[in-house]
Amino acid sequence: MLVAPSILSADFGNLERDIKAICDAGCDLVHVDVMDGHYVPNLTIGPVVVEPVAKVATKPLDIHLMVENNNFFVDLFAPLKPKYLSFHIESEKHPHRLIQKIRSLGISPAIVLNPHTKVEEIEYLIEDLDMVLLMSVNPGFGGQKFIPTVIEKAKKLKELISKRNPSCLIEVDGGVSNKNIKELKEAGVDIVVAGSYVFGSSNYEEAIKSLKI
Ligand code: DX5
Ligand code: ZN
Repeated sequence: MLVAPSILSADFGNLERDIKAICDAGCDLVHVDVMDGHYVPNLTIGPVVVEPVAKVATKPLDIHLMVENNNFFVDLFAPLKPKYLSFHIESEKHPHRLIQKIRSLGISPAIVLNPHTKVEEIEYLIEDLDMVLLMSVNPGFGGQKFIPTVIEKAKKLKELISKRNPSCLIEVDGGVSNKNIKELKEAGVDIVVAGSYVFGSSNYEEAIKSLKI
């Protein structure tokens, strides 16, 4: 299991310290939640803040867009060269076109599905994706309760992926902790995002290790 701590739960007054700490503690990716205050009822960070984060991070960035105007935000964040750039299927009229655009910029494209969205929605996009992110909370805030139906969804998605593009990874985001990691692993999940669980612990290394099963 790969672990991507969400910096939404970091101390923004000491961001450099916290980014270094999670990278030193053995995380695999640094998850960055970009919210525009329209698509979700919260507003977070733009490239002015993410640029110094990218400089300090020794692990690749995993940028999760929760925005209405995906095209605009892809252009804004592409120069930071994240490993993954993911956008919500629910907020995009032309997901296939946007996937091609992200790939043409040298970035791995990923699509996010909200808790209510069926995995069949992306059946004909899987071949073009490097990762699918399943939300296990409603997007917008850290520290929410894990929605357990994501387990069944991950299993369904794994079947679709094995038929259409076995190298596509499954990521789960929201409410992940040592309490649900085993189920997620058994469902075929490859990467977990964990914000409050990692940053709320007194030992980042131990917390990350407990998810790497
Ligand atoms: C929610 C974000 C998540 C969130 C995860 O919209 O996408 O990445 O910060 O935080 P926890 O792990 O606390 O649920
Ligand atoms: Zn996220």
